[in-house]
Amino acid sequence: MARVFSGIQPTGDMHLGNYLGAVRQWVADQDTHDAIYCVVDLHAITSPYDPAELAEQTRRTATILLAAGLDPDRCTLFVQSHVPAHTELTWILNCVATVGELRRMTQFKEKGRGQESVSAGLFDYPVLMAADILAYDTDRVPVGDDQRQHLELARDIALRFNHRFGKTLVVPEAAIPPFGARVMDLQHPTAKMSKSANSPQGTIALLDDPGVITKRLTSAVTDSESDIRFDPEQKPGVANLLQILAAATGKAIPDVERDHAGKGYGALKAATAEAVVEFLRPLRARYEELEADPGRVTALLTLGADKAEAIATKVITRVRDAVGLLPRA
Ligand code: TYM
Repeated sequence: MARVFSGIQPTGDMHLGNYLGAVRQWVADQDTHDAIYCVVDLHAITSPYDPAELAEQTRRTATILLAAGLDPDRCTLFVQSHVPAHTELTWILNCVATVGELRRMTQFKEKGRGQESVSAGLFDYPVLMAADILAYDTDRVPVGDDQRQHLELARDIALRFNHRFGKTLVVPEAAIPPFGARVMDLQHPTAKMSKSANSPQGTIALLDDPGVITKRLTSAVTDSESDIRFDPEQKPGVANLLQILAAATGKAIPDVERDHAGKGYGALKAATAEAVVEFLRPLRARYEELEADPGRVTALLTLGADKAEAIATKVITRVRDAVGLLPRA
């Protein structure tokens, strides 16, 4: 079976963009792939954060992933810092990646902007991400559109490594969904919905109360026209609502477009709010069940780290050998 690997940061609460762009694919891929998923806590410490909250947020993110449908019997779910191969491989790949290519990463430029001092970790973030992927001989990486450039870099690093040291690493492909790959902020529909943006009104967290979800969707920014059509360029707010409604009801975008033709924005927003509330209801219920037994989540993560480590250790041994490090006797 081909292998998929993907990761999510534990900073902030998981939102509809994370779900539609990535996690929805992760759930589906469990049936068709050898699936490995990771809560990337080491990525989270590359920007300012609260150490008193990180561990709890990491557990909470894993719990939401389980509530969203990851099944530890059909996938491997673990915490990045529990498997040291990620950081070891990062160092080796640091000696293959170039400063020039890291400087070109748009997320580095965006995240670094406005920070008083930017950590070397933030600069190196994409190499750690490449190590996450390459440590598992990954074939496919299901991600949202904003990770496209990082995936391209991971491929370039793998190709260069193989060219320099002989065929050692599997070169991964990005799997970006045809829609939902870029869920936009409800208040600023030309910017992506994001955990870090200071736009709580524009974001829907998966665990938000139904009342909050309804309010945010019914006050979403649209435009001054009234026709409903899927046109992300000219009508980003309406297109965003249509893609959210389609995803929440399992319909195709042309179908929801047709259902709402001539009905007005108010009706579209109300229908989207109702669909999202219903869609997230079972996830909330499962989350509450899992929260009642935190020891179970901890035990599942330990098991996941053991499974992940067994795979990554083999790859890292192959990498050490390829680059010529003296084996420990
Ligand atoms: P992160 O934690 O920002 O986001 C997790 C996943 O959600 C997707 N996503 C979105 N999709 C659609 N619309 C949006 N508004 C939206 N916002 C986020 C992201 O594309 C991502 O797939 N660097 C990664 C985490 C990572 C990783 C990896 C991913 C670390 N190592 C290895 C894949 C493989 C990140 O910060 O994702």
